[in-house]
Amino acid sequence: MRLLVLGGTMFLGRAVARLAAAAGHEVTCAARGVSGEPVPGVRFVQVDRDDPAGLSALDGERFDAVVDVTRRPSHARHAVAALADRVDHWSYVSTCSVYADNGTPGQRAATAEMLAPAPEGVDNPIGEHAEFYGPCKVSCEQAVLDTIGAQRSFVCRAGLIVGPEDPSDRFPYWVDRLARGGEVLAPGAPDELVQYVDVADLAQWLLYAAETGLTGTFDGMGAPLSRAGFLAGVAAGVGRPDPELTWVAQDFLVERDVRPWSGERALPLWLPLPEYAGFLTRDVTDSLAAGLRTRPLAETAASTLDWMRTHPDDVRRGGLEPADEAKVLGEWSARIA
Ligand SMILES: NC(=O)c1ccc[n+]([C@@H]2O[C@H](COP(=O)([O-])OP(=O)(O)OC[C@H]3O[C@@H](n4cnc5c(N)ncnc54)[C@H](OP(=O)(O)O)[C@@H]3O)[C@@H](O)[C@H]2O)c1
Repeated sequence: MRLLVLGGTMFLGRAVARLAAAAGHEVTCAARGVSGEPVPGVRFVQVDRDDPAGLSALDGERFDAVVDVTRRPSHARHAVAALADRVDHWSYVSTCSVYADNGTPGQRAATAEMLAPAPEGVDNPIGEHAEFYGPCKVSCEQAVLDTIGAQRSFVCRAGLIVGPEDPSDRFPYWVDRLARGGEVLAPGAPDELVQYVDVADLAQWLLYAAETGLTGTFDGMGAPLSRAGFLAGVAAGVGRPDPELTWVAQDFLVERDVRPWSGERALPLWLPLPEYAGFLTRDVTDSLAAGLRTRPLAETAASTLDWMRTHPDDVRRGGLEPADEAKVLGEWSARIA
């Protein structure tokens, strides 16, 4: 198969290219080469999609399948316009941020309500337009479905992607924290749900879709699991099978300016409830029935820890600092004594 990855110099795009090349496919990655390097053994074509004619370096070529990861509606529109007649199957990597309702647990891709597309004039969801990430991905999905058509398109709405080469500070926080051992601040309650997808599992499913002609719109993430199960899985993968967890109530954390999801003072994969009760609890029965396979979390944690140790300069550090964690734990212990 001739596979074109529009992207391929970062996390998921690199994982798709790596797996496809290992499976013997002829892989081309097209990007600027600014964010990173393509994996060894694939062909790299330098393109700048900010230019409407930016894919002209690929003129005259045919591909069996495309995987596009863009966040920019103009990039999606120009790509489908340029390549629709020369491609058999198109996978677009979207996001569960396209959904309008973050509060209702158990929603399915087939029926969940979506956000409106990006407003006129919004094409790059960064900086002052960062809040338009979901709407921009809605617009990208529409561009693919309008031009390529549902019969040739696989729209994969990824959840939190984790694993080696993760450019975020989210999953690496828990890998690092549980690997360090000692008393660990566990946010919220043990039975609250979390949801993620291993980057290699998602890449494998994208490759499977291209190989088999899978079409449709699906969520790209594994089944939800409890936060206790999540922390136990990570702990097992990093060689600390019996973590010393102290569960601290949401309100107590909020009062102490411990923040959700990612960044400074954050506890990743923790989101305020009930506002986000639907965000990490999606029903992915249809995705699993359509070929998504998920590996044990301990494997994901082990491979992530290995990458973090071998590539320390590439790891983005964030989340609650050890001293701040100890302070909150001390205050919690005094409160419940
Ligand atoms: N990470 C998560 O947890 C998460 C969750 C849900 C959904 N997603 C989605 O999953 C996908 C992740 O993709 P990814 O890991 O491969 O990272 P990414 O950040 O989406 O990669 C963007 C790719 O596009 C290329 N690019 C950017 N500007 C370009 C331009 N002007 N011309 C040509 N190429 C350009 C970049 O390469 P150069 O900069 O080198 O050009 C890079 O290869 C995205 O679709 C994201 O929206 C991610």
